[in-house]
Amino acid sequence: MNLETRIKMNDGNLIPMVGYGTIRVPDEAIVTALEVGYRYLDTASMYKYNEIGVGKAIDSKIVPRNELFVCTKLWTNDIREGRTREAFFESLKKLKTEYIDLYLIHFPAEGYVQAWKEMEKLQKEGYIKSIGVSNFRKSHMQNLLAQTTVVPAINEMEVNPGFQDIEALNFCKEHGITVIASAPLGEGRYVQMDELKSLAKKYDKSIPQVILRWLLQKGILVVPKSTKEERIIDNANLFDFTLTAEELIFIDSLNKNERSYADPDNFDF
Ligand SMILES: NC(=O)c1ccc[n+]([C@@H]2O[C@H](COP(=O)([O-])OP(=O)(O)OC[C@H]3O[C@@H](n4cnc5c(N)ncnc54)[C@H](OP(=O)(O)O)[C@@H]3O)[C@@H](O)[C@H]2O)c1
Repeated sequence: MNLETRIKMNDGNLIPMVGYGTIRVPDEAIVTALEVGYRYLDTASMYKYNEIGVGKAIDSKIVPRNELFVCTKLWTNDIREGRTREAFFESLKKLKTEYIDLYLIHFPAEGYVQAWKEMEKLQKEGYIKSIGVSNFRKSHMQNLLAQTTVVPAINEMEVNPGFQDIEALNFCKEHGITVIASAPLGEGRYVQMDELKSLAKKYDKSIPQVILRWLLQKGILVVPKSTKEERIIDNANLFDFTLTAEELIFIDSLNKNERSYADPDNFDF
């Protein structure tokens, strides 16, 4: 396995197991990520992400478009205002590409079922390869499945040692929905987690590498973000060690149910 290894989603399309998260990163860091071997870029139309920077990297052709996997997301105000189609084409233009590999509903804002139906159409028209959701809890996924025809290929949701929504993870497993862990390092909170120091030492790896490996072995994909070249490289160097079953259970047990970012049942943006 390596950065180019892809797994199959429930719609038959392939997705790399490790991507590069682009929230608040400078454009040069995106280029670095591609140069060191990342092929999957995770962005969003929300302002703190940088679709324009990702678009520049795509346009630079450092990596041919057909070797890249590009994910972007529909923001909440566009969902509420019924602007799915317009917002999608705005993203496409900024990303300087003719199609998106994965398009996600960023948060379950009011109107998400209608937005999903529009995304199904865009997928049929060939503009989007795979469609999915982000920050959906079990109740949101149940509601969506009850009213639509395409099961999401992906739920990109917060998963890290300190926060594991077991109910949502189990629902995804039962319905063949692949999970991508956003903020896999808890926005940096867990990069020095005391409880993981001895495991990192045992494998001669960093704590972030242990966390990312734990997620991969649980079948959860990761999109870590770093602005620093050595960490960008480190966060992809995950394929030369294997945690034992007991070690996976130990990291599971660190769950504190503490979110690092917004609660999908209670957000005000
Ligand atoms: N769908 C959603 O709603 C959603 C929400 C949040 C995040 N995401 C996605 O998930 C990606 C990652 O999330 P995130 O950026 O919030 O947090 P994260 O990846 O969990 O953590 C990033 C933080 O950890 C530090 N870090 C990264 N690698 C490190 C290493 N090897 N050693 C030490 N420190 C390290 C980074 O600092 P430096 O930059 O200084 O290295 C940064 O402060 C985002 O970019 C985005 O693509 C999605």
